[in-house]
Amino acid sequence: MSTALVTGASSGIGAQYAVQLAALGYDVVLVGRDRAALEVVAARVGESGRSAEVLAADLTVPADLQRVCARAAGDDISVLVNNAGVGTPGEFVASDADTEQAMLDLNVTAVMRLCHAAFPGMLRRDRGAIVNIASVAAFTPSDGGPGYSASKAYVAMFTESLALKAHGTRVRVLAVFPGFVRTAFHPRLGMDTSWIPRWAWLRPEDVVRASLQDLRAGRTRSVPSARYKVAMALARAVPRPLLRRVLATSTPHIDRA
Ligand SMILES: NC(=O)c1ccc[n+]([C@@H]2O[C@H](COP(=O)([O-])OP(=O)(O)OC[C@H]3O[C@@H](n4cnc5c(N)ncnc54)[C@H](OP(=O)(O)O)[C@@H]3O)[C@@H](O)[C@H]2O)c1
Repeated sequence: MSTALVTGASSGIGAQYAVQLAALGYDVVLVGRDRAALEVVAARVGESGRSAEVLAADLTVPADLQRVCARAAGDDISVLVNNAGVGTPGEFVASDADTEQAMLDLNVTAVMRLCHAAFPGMLRRDRGAIVNIASVAAFTPSDGGPGYSASKAYVAMFTESLALKAHGTRVRVLAVFPGFVRTAFHPRLGMDTSWIPRWAWLRPEDVVRASLQDLRAGRTRSVPSARYKVAMALARAVPRPLLRRVLATSTPHIDRA
């Protein structure tokens, strides 16, 4: 029996992982705080004939995180999708330090702990996959959201390093780098997104489909869509001092994806 555990499965990209993995034949464990929203996703999973287990948990609460880690360590878990993540509203210099900390608890600590729970068993069984959702924000410094970009840079490096350990096994490890995706992410932050051009927006279903294709192809990094592949290649090619100058003079939210 193959089961996928998806965090942040109540909306956006995570809900799409749940639905698409169910369509591929996986039973799904759905993790998030909003039980009612998870039940809605569970019903969609059920339409594929797969079972959905709702695990309501706040991953920034240590006891909840421990409960989810215990589930992620189960022998039946063959896919772990660390998708739950948040940004912080407004500027770092004016933000509340506890809110910044809660973001790191979710975006960094929960990802590390869940991988720590699930990865050894996958290696032992020589079977499984870990998919960690980073962001294109991991590639560039950020004036508007330094903590968010840094948290996603952690996810990127951590995931690529786990992939070294999985090399030569049948365990796959993938970091996903979405650009702007139309989900509840920006509305939750109260962000004005009117300046973002239409071409820059991706659909969650396309992001998930592309990442699962990359997972099947055995890749370690997935940058969904050709436009973001080009943008990220350019960002890497531009000398860092020039990149910083451009970012410092552009909108503070430009890299909050
Ligand atoms: N949207 C974008 O433009 C974009 C771009 C790049 C990367 N990403 C990344 O993609 C991932 C998914 O975001 P999304 O765009 O799909 O946004 P979303 O629709 O807001 O989904 C975020 C998910 O995280 C869950 N979550 C938030 N806080 C949680 C907590 N304390 N404990 C457990 N679950 C929690 C939410 O569920 P509950 O509210 O039920 O807890 C929700 O299911 C995030 O890691 C984000 O950083 C998004």
